[in-house]
Amino acid sequence: MFPEGFLWGGATAANQIEGAYNEGGKGLSVQDILPGGVTRPATDGPTEDNLKLKGIDFYHRYEEDIDLLAEMGFTTFRISFAWSRIFPRGDEAEPNREGLEFYDRVIDYMRSQGIEPLVTLSHYETPLHIMREYGGFTNRKVIGFFENYARTVMEHFKGRVRYWLTFNEINSVLHFPMFSGIEGIPEEIGAQNLYQAIHHELVASGRATRIAHEIDPESKVGCMILAVPRYPLTPHPDDAMAALIASHDDFTFGDVHVRGEYPGYFRRKLRELGVKLEITDADREDLKHTVDFVSFSYYMSVCESATEKESGKGNIIGGIPNPTLEASEWGWQIDPVGLRYILNEYWDRWQVPLFIVENGLGAKDELVNGTVEDDYRIDYLNDHLVQVAEAIEDGVQLLGYTSWGCIDLVSASTAQMSKRYGFIYVDRHDDGSGSLQRYKKKSFDWYKQVIASNGASLKR
Ligand code: BG6
Repeated sequence: MFPEGFLWGGATAANQIEGAYNEGGKGLSVQDILPGGVTRPATDGPTEDNLKLKGIDFYHRYEEDIDLLAEMGFTTFRISFAWSRIFPRGDEAEPNREGLEFYDRVIDYMRSQGIEPLVTLSHYETPLHIMREYGGFTNRKVIGFFENYARTVMEHFKGRVRYWLTFNEINSVLHFPMFSGIEGIPEEIGAQNLYQAIHHELVASGRATRIAHEIDPESKVGCMILAVPRYPLTPHPDDAMAALIASHDDFTFGDVHVRGEYPGYFRRKLRELGVKLEITDADREDLKHTVDFVSFSYYMSVCESATEKESGKGNIIGGIPNPTLEASEWGWQIDPVGLRYILNEYWDRWQVPLFIVENGLGAKDELVNGTVEDDYRIDYLNDHLVQVAEAIEDGVQLLGYTSWGCIDLVSASTAQMSKRYGFIYVDRHDDGSGSLQRYKKKSFDWYKQVIASNGASLKR
């Protein structure tokens, strides 16, 4: 069953909850020009009706929200710091004090409620100026800007933040480079630029890990991977190989973070693409600073085939739909066993503790008499957590579980408010209307029970 001290909680990102995009001296980030989420084109700047910018007003309501999470018994809460709240343009030498002070209040309040903060340094939140002026991580200088940001917050929050994640879903740069401040789609950017940017981001991650350990040897740093089990569509060996090769795209990032160097299959890929990376001796040293744990998000699995190329509606990463699985209303295939599968796969591969930092069901909820009867969400989470318990029985070392969007927030892929994940309903709608009032859903008490019983109340 779940070990003692297992961290139970929920996860969010600054750009999806805070709102207040132009308060407290905050600069714009790439998120602020994506009013329709990642699936629609970027604008030149923020617009009046840009729901994404508004979040759920966590900036002003964090105490009320953290109180509700504490009531559920959370022992951890994953947030991200908005890089552009602390370094509004990203390239300044000195931080914006108001930005740090906001997170002082949030972190101190969390701790006062017995909740261990888990902080992502960049949850798809590269400052816009870094994109426009420097081309994001294609530019080596950005490693230094990120280093300055990481050092600043790690020194400032020493002893108060003990768990850090460097880049959210770092492997998604292959599919959506704009999160790393690189304008355009991968085909336009070209393999040489894209892979050089990936290298710079990996170096930045390694350097941040080194700095965290220098500043506070007790701190724990994890990488964060978008985890998608890839199953062969048929038993044909070529499909099995296609699945393995597709998995390599995700494994690369964990391999570098855990082993400190690029794997052979990746070097082959670069050769085949005709990419020559510029790697300095200092880069190699930075990559050697490996992570304490591997964290990941898990929503779905996909199938791979050597012959069929159809792409499903996935979580940024496409893939072929699995004919044996049901899907959510947004076409994300529901696969609890896939979570046990990937936990085993990652543990066997890397042998460092794992941390599930995102998992959940995006669904349309109906508020009736001040609550939501979200049995569908309870079933989804129950079934996934049962598989987590199985993986722990398999011997996987797992630090914790934070369900995604524990309080309703704005969707990353579609910017919809109606794609809800939370235990707490937030009265805000896709058109921006709503009182922002918070309501407990049925799953609120369910999760409270799961946490209080350390998983014993799950239905097998
Ligand atoms: C993950 C992201 O990919 O999936 C989150 O880290 C995101 O930011 C989550 O919100 C769920 O995706 P969506 O598109 O339903 O919000």
